[in-house]
Amino acid sequence: MTPQPQAAVGAPLTRVDARLKVTGQARYAADFDADGLVHAVVVDSGIGLGRITSVDTTAALALPGVLTVLTHLNAPRLPYGPNPGMATPPGERLHVLEDDRVRFHGQPIAVVVATTLETARHAARLVRVEYDAEPPSTDLSTAADDTPVTYERGDAERALRSADVRLELTYRTARQHHNAMEPHATVARWDDGRLTVWQKTQWIHGAQAELAAVFGLPEDAVRVVSPFVGGAFGNASRIWPQGVMAALAAREVDRPVKLVLSRRQLYFGTGYRPGYEYQVRLGSDGQGRLTAMTHVMRAETSRYETFQDDILSIGQMLYDVPAVTQDWRTVPLDVSTPTFMRGPGGATAAYAVESAMDELAWELGLDPVELRLRNEPDRDPTSGLPFSTRRLRECYARGARAFGWHLRDPKPRSTRDGDWLIGTGMATGAHPSWSVTSLAHVRLDADGTAVVQSATSDMGPGTYTVMTQVAADALGLPVRAVRFELGDSTMPPPVGHGGSMTTPSVGSAVQDGCAKLRGEAVALAVKDEESPLFGVAADDVVVADGRLYVRDEPARGETYRSLLARSGRDRLEADGEYVPAGLPFSTHSYSVTFAEVAVDARLGLVRVRRMLGVYDVGRVINPKLADSQAIGGMIGGIGQALLEHTVTDHRDGRIVNANLADYLVPVNADIPDLKAIYLEGEDDKVARIGAKGLGEVVHVGVAPALANAVFHATGRRIRELPITADALL
Ligand code: MOS
Repeated sequence: MTPQPQAAVGAPLTRVDARLKVTGQARYAADFDADGLVHAVVVDSGIGLGRITSVDTTAALALPGVLTVLTHLNAPRLPYGPNPGMATPPGERLHVLEDDRVRFHGQPIAVVVATTLETARHAARLVRVEYDAEPPSTDLSTAADDTPVTYERGDAERALRSADVRLELTYRTARQHHNAMEPHATVARWDDGRLTVWQKTQWIHGAQAELAAVFGLPEDAVRVVSPFVGGAFGNASRIWPQGVMAALAAREVDRPVKLVLSRRQLYFGTGYRPGYEYQVRLGSDGQGRLTAMTHVMRAETSRYETFQDDILSIGQMLYDVPAVTQDWRTVPLDVSTPTFMRGPGGATAAYAVESAMDELAWELGLDPVELRLRNEPDRDPTSGLPFSTRRLRECYARGARAFGWHLRDPKPRSTRDGDWLIGTGMATGAHPSWSVTSLAHVRLDADGTAVVQSATSDMGPGTYTVMTQVAADALGLPVRAVRFELGDSTMPPPVGHGGSMTTPSVGSAVQDGCAKLRGEAVALAVKDEESPLFGVAADDVVVADGRLYVRDEPARGETYRSLLARSGRDRLEADGEYVPAGLPFSTHSYSVTFAEVAVDARLGLVRVRRMLGVYDVGRVINPKLADSQAIGGMIGGIGQALLEHTVTDHRDGRIVNANLADYLVPVNADIPDLKAIYLEGEDDKVARIGAKGLGEVVHVGVAPALANAVFHATGRRIRELPITADALL
């Protein structure tokens, strides 16, 4: 078909849902209501491991308005059928209220249902639980690990022995919690054995499949509705036990139930980025050509599920290293199961690898950018496949120029501004461009407006807006004539909203459906004797602003509206599909982050002065939303590098900073000028739409850029995140 004019794609459109959000009309899970709705509050375990010996609910049940208190003593057992696929990690998910065992501190062990939230909260505090407690094992650094996942190419040990320069370094990263603005929330209602949940989720059909499996229902007996998500960063990619408890409670009291976790509860029994120990050895020749790299990694997981994020890619494919080994072990602990968090695995691996590269550059007296250029591969070193696009050389050149990188004095501790030591650092990031089969549905109404649907989510990146832009261009409609709808399991299933897959996969499905519908309209017009387009070759017709016309003769044409009116149709419909072509290419998004910090060495204070990200992410559908992602990714990296740390008291497994006063996240005052540059172009090998995915790669490599800048400022190499004041003193 003739290429469509691109009017919306590439434009810095403001979010189409911006007004709904800023006026409070956007409805998040907890905003939903239902007739007869009652409230549930979860009771969490006060020990880290052991058994519940008694539960006394007398006082709670005596409170007027309390409908029930469900515990393992009176709750019905649920089927917990298998749910193959990505929805849960290997292992056996936590079965709520099934037995007297406590597996981690803060495990949900009871749920109180009452007619008001206040009553439910009060009653939850009146539930008396006694335990037989055992000491939990929650310390990654001392616990035993599982069978490793390994990778090997070349003979790394031999290459290390003969290397001119050898480094052996150990890095540590803290456990992090996602801390999205919106808490996890569920409103659950049963109608004749069918379950509807208004649920915070990044994966509508994943949530549907999981609830169906847990309750032993056919999938179509569960409906999941989630039109808005107030941030998630990966934490809403699965249903947590409390979501199941809401549905169970609703069934037991036979009324719709609302269950919202408190900020504190978000730290217990929902996922987190696992803490890691990451040991890396590098070997290089005298010119900085890497000859070997070995990686030994240990990561937290729970005892009941083995969670694994993509820790391996970076170590395998970022540099052209002939000999690589990886040995990756999960460490089962008495903790809840971790989950994906923005740049899952990659952000952790990049911290270790990109810090080690900076240490090597210093050892060799080479510029860190130059060191990376000397190790830039021509093909994917893991698969041997050509890259679809990999434009890191351009990223380095553009970034270094824009940042003023080469003005730096390479010597650490060489630049001062009053009491502040000034340093700059850089690091590289990559994230696989996965794409997964996705479906969409398009309807054009007689009034010339279109509704496009796919059951994806918008946790903040701007799915509503981006899909509207893609659809508008593919249909030849103005943006205001297109409405994109998402967040309902009755809509066609796309890939889960994660892994930076939404724009490439869902966008391609939307584009496909819209192009099909446009083609149908054009075919109708050129065959209709009464149409001004009668007899024109379909390939010569384009559509813009809702009007079909001959490309080289714009005066000849008609609108969708007149076409539909004359042909007596009230609508045209089409199904869009995206199926990955599985082309033999290595597909990744890339980033290079430059950072400048100021460190007051006497106080151990680190202030970020400016950052620049340069991105090779294929086509950018909306530069304004891309900036919002890039800035958010950099801010997340500032948190990872300098602030965020979930602290566990290993004596009883309690998370001691389970609140936003003690768990530090960056605030406005921590954030300097942040700039983003996107290389122009597209990657048509990843997905039809030309985009490679953006949301994760903007976060990968940010923390090491900052850590490297702290080293350059101070001459001190801190090999543990976050870099805190006491580490620098
Ligand atoms: Mo992302 S960590 O897949 O939300």
